[in-house]
Amino acid sequence: MSERTLVLVKPDGVSRGLVGEVISRIERKGLKLAALELRTVERGVAEQHYAEHDGKPFFNDLLDFITSGPLVALVVEGTRAISAFRQLAGGTDPVEKATPGTLRGDFGLEVQYNLVHGSDSPESAEREIKIWFPNL
Ligand code: TYD
Ligand code: MG
Repeated sequence: MSERTLVLVKPDGVSRGLVGEVISRIERKGLKLAALELRTVERGVAEQHYAEHDGKPFFNDLLDFITSGPLVALVVEGTRAISAFRQLAGGTDPVEKATPGTLRGDFGLEVQYNLVHGSDSPESAEREIKIWFPNL
């Protein structure tokens, strides 16, 4: 059952030179890249992407961070791609939740600077891919 998921290497991942590491792990897992773009995102796009978190205490800081510099947006494809990438990413908090061996567990220290995003469900994936890659 092939799926597509929306992955972001967030601005911390790009500035720390971890784009290759993220892509390498995606590829070694057996997933395929269906789209890839380096871009600095406008606040409106970030607001749409994180709409579910509107009103939460971390929302504004999250938008400031995600718009703070270039990020890499990808569409990743393959069998159970949504869960498979979430597993590669690790839990949201890089210390308390993500375990070593995951991207966040290996490279992160703070919740806000947790390096990557991955869609959390088929509905989220479809919604997010439309935001980032409307022509796909
Ligand atoms: P969320 O969707 O809960 O996590 P995930 O990225 O694992 O799907 O939250 C979105 C992002 O918001 C998260 O990656 C980092 C940031 N965030 C905070 O800065 N503080 C918080 O307390 C939470 C829950 C998230
Ligand atoms: Mg999420």
